[in-house]
Amino acid sequence: MKVIALYNLKGGVGKTAGTVNLGYLSALAGFRTLIWDLDPQGASTFYFRIKPKVSGGRKKLMKGKGGHPLDDHIRGTDFELLDLMPADFSYRKMDSALDEIKKSERWLSRMLKSVADEYDVIFLDCPPSISTTSEAVFHTVDALLVPMIPTTLSVRTLEQLTSHLDTNGLGDLPIWPFFSIVDRRKKMHRELMAQVESQDAYFDTFIPSASAVEQMGVERSPVAVFAGGTVAAKSYLNLWGEIQARLGISPGGA
Ligand SMILES: Nc1ncnc2c1ncn2[C@@H]1O[C@H](COP(=O)(O)OP(=O)(O)O)[C@@H](O)[C@H]1O
Ligand SMILES: [Mg+2]
Repeated sequence: MKVIALYNLKGGVGKTAGTVNLGYLSALAGFRTLIWDLDPQGASTFYFRIKPKVSGGRKKLMKGKGGHPLDDHIRGTDFELLDLMPADFSYRKMDSALDEIKKSERWLSRMLKSVADEYDVIFLDCPPSISTTSEAVFHTVDALLVPMIPTTLSVRTLEQLTSHLDTNGLGDLPIWPFFSIVDRRKKMHRELMAQVESQDAYFDTFIPSASAVEQMGVERSPVAVFAGGTVAAKSYLNLWGEIQARLGISPGGA
């Protein structure tokens, strides 16, 4: 089981769009895939037409020990091999609840261990913050996928994340940035992308600014489902190919 988080300290950079599209493509490729919507705003839950309610809410979920504490909460989607753990508005209180339990940074990995046999790939759609929840994310994932709009400020935010991880003993956690909502007509976008071209951590694929991605809110579907021929859909497919290679996984294989 591989666990990856779509994470950035900034909001509105394409974390949720990335989660929904990459999660869909992972399942389409044959991986048993789970998306966990950790953002109380519940955007990825919305895109999959699922009610943003975890029955019993956060309290019940966090108390769950042993057995399969997530099973009551996970929902199927319209797509084969793709399940979703919906957002719950009580997540808003998750940080304070996590502050009260011991080894809170291990909470998420403990939860996911219970479904390790059921999924090949797990995507975490994260809220834009450094919090107790995100600390648990950092201690759980195999890599952080960081969508970035190519601006000077975004690069600075990435440096802040790197130094935060370094000072907290998590310097080995792979950070994999990719550019999203890219407008090649903008000089700053072109320049920023050229600047990091030689850095291996960045994916070669970028996600262009595209009306098809904006349309997801209306269609409530991954782009590939309703606009498969578009550049945006192809970009997500290429990006998934790169991610799959970095994770060293292949469908039906190890
Ligand atoms: N590639 C893209 N092209 C155009 N609009 C995009 C693209 N990716 C995301 N958006 C739009 O930008 C907004 C923020 O995207 P979202 O994925 O929700 O970001 P985050 O989860 O990081 O807050 C949404 O309205 C979404 O429709
Ligand atoms: Mg989001």
